[in-house]
Parts: sequence; C-alpha cells; structure tokens
Amino acid sequence: MDKICVTRQLPQAGLDMMAQAAELVVSPHDRALTRPELMELCQGCRVLVCTLAEPIDREFLLARPEVRMVSNYAVGHDNLDLAAGQELGVVMTNTPGVLSDATADLTMALILALMRRVVEGDKLLRAGGFKGVAPMWMLGSDLMGKTLGILGLGRIGEAVAMRAVAFGLRIIYHSRHPRPEAERALGAEYVGFDELLARSDVISINAPLNPATWGLFNYHTIKRMKPGAYLINTGRGPIIVEEDLARALHDGLIRGAALDVYEHEPQVHPGLLGLDNVILCPHLGSATQETRTRMSTLVAENVLAFLEGREPPNRLV
Ligand code: DGY
Repeated sequence: MDKICVTRQLPQAGLDMMAQAAELVVSPHDRALTRPELMELCQGCRVLVCTLAEPIDREFLLARPEVRMVSNYAVGHDNLDLAAGQELGVVMTNTPGVLSDATADLTMALILALMRRVVEGDKLLRAGGFKGVAPMWMLGSDLMGKTLGILGLGRIGEAVAMRAVAFGLRIIYHSRHPRPEAERALGAEYVGFDELLARSDVISINAPLNPATWGLFNYHTIKRMKPGAYLINTGRGPIIVEEDLARALHDGLIRGAALDVYEHEPQVHPGLLGLDNVILCPHLGSATQETRTRMSTLVAENVLAFLEGREPPNRLV
C-alpha cells in the first residue's frame, strides 16, 4: 500500500479521503518540522502533504527520491522548488480558489480595523483610556470615496475588490497582466506600479511571492506612496522589507499598516511591535473552519488523482 506523509494535523475530512487510498503517516507534532524530522517522517512515502512552513527544495527531493508527489496545503507555493520538481519528475499541486473569499474577508477586516482604529481603540479602552466620547478623539478615515490600490488582481485580489466596491472604494490595480473583464465588472483601472504607489489611499498586497515581488515595498517605494496612505499585506511577508516599513512608519511617511504575513515568519521585526498604527495578525488569511476543511479535501483530491493515475486538478508541475 502507498504511504502518504502529512506534516501537520489537518481537518479530518481530507485525512479520511486519503486514508481510503493509502496509509497515512501524520506528524505527531503540530508544528513546523525541522529538516531532519521531515526526512525521517517521509521515509518510504510516495506522497508528501506539506504546508508553507516546509521548504521543499532540490536537496530534499534528491534525498527522498521515493517522494513522487508534493501536495501543498496552501495556494501560495513559494516554499516549493517547482523547477526542481519539474526536472526530477515530481508532481506538485496547491489549493487555489477555495481560500479566496476567506482571505479577502480578512483583508477587508484589516482595512476597516486600520482605517477606523478598532484595534488601537480596544487596547486603549482596556488600559482605562476611555473617558467618554470626544469630538476630536480617535479620528480615523472614511473608506467611501477613497482609492484602493491592489497589487495582484488574481482570485484573491479580485475578491478583495468586489468587497471594497461595496464600501465605496475606487479600485486601481497593478498586476502582471491587465484583466479587462475584471475591469468591466469592478470598474477597476489598470495602472503602473509607480501610479499605484502615488494614487492609492490604501494599498492591498495580494500578489504571490516571486523574484519580481520580493522586497518590492522598501523604504524607497514606501516613500513614493501617497502621504497618509495605508499598507495592507495578506499575501506573502517578504514582499515588504519590514525594517524599512518600521522606519517609514516611524518617519510618518504613511499613516498605518496591517500585516497578516511576515518577512521571517513567525518572527516579526521588533520595530513594528511597539507601533499603535500597525495591526499584526498571525497569518489568519485562510483560517476559517469551512475554508481549512475545503483546503484539506482539495489536497486529498489532488493526491487521489495522482495515486489513481489521473491528472491532479491543481497541478503546478
Ligand atoms: C496560502 O494558502 O497561501 C495561505 O497563505 C495559507 O494559509
């Protein structure tokens, strides 16, 4: 019987589906595995189900040649070396589509919380700082009529735009390719990256991590953002140079930031921790019961297709 290595506790629905076709070897630790732990757990397994916390590179694939398929429990796949997978004939899949709404909901939650100072207000109140409503106290920003700039109008970016339109935000976006049908549906306008920086009152990063986006938001680019703008990141942490963001916030270049992902996850740059105008969320984009369950069944659909010799629905290579 084939063996499937699963690096984390996953929702039962996906595990049950896979258990009908193969023996499951599930990590006893519910935490990111070290490389030696992963190597040991995978021994003799034809399939590996992993998360973005496990880098699957050429060295790993060469050391564990019995692993013929890697099913990533995430839509983002910057932890997978696709080129090595392709070259070594290892099938690799991800979980697109099923987490777009959950991630877009969290993005909107962060935009609202940041612009209306919800987290800051909560902290103040608990610390005894609420002395009654005051006309000039804790003033945030309206969303209505402001411009939201979306970096990356893929499935998640589009789901963010749909929600933002309902709050009266105008949408501009920068993506690898213009999306004319999304422009028609959302009234969105395609702009160059510099224009995105200069015109947006809020920027939402919904792009994947790749060589073109790595470190894209650094002190120099943040300085070109509209003064008083906000920066939201629910994509991937290394798209922002955290030290530069902390400095830009400290220097008052932009009004605030809300992050769900980090450059050196799970570490957060200490310069961000003490700032009241920063919301720090612990990578919760897809963290709803429904979405995580659907991710587990999609992972299983990909694995079962592979084991049955069919084309996995979400094959990357
Ligand atoms: C993804 O799927 O890429 C998310 O970041 C994981 O929650």
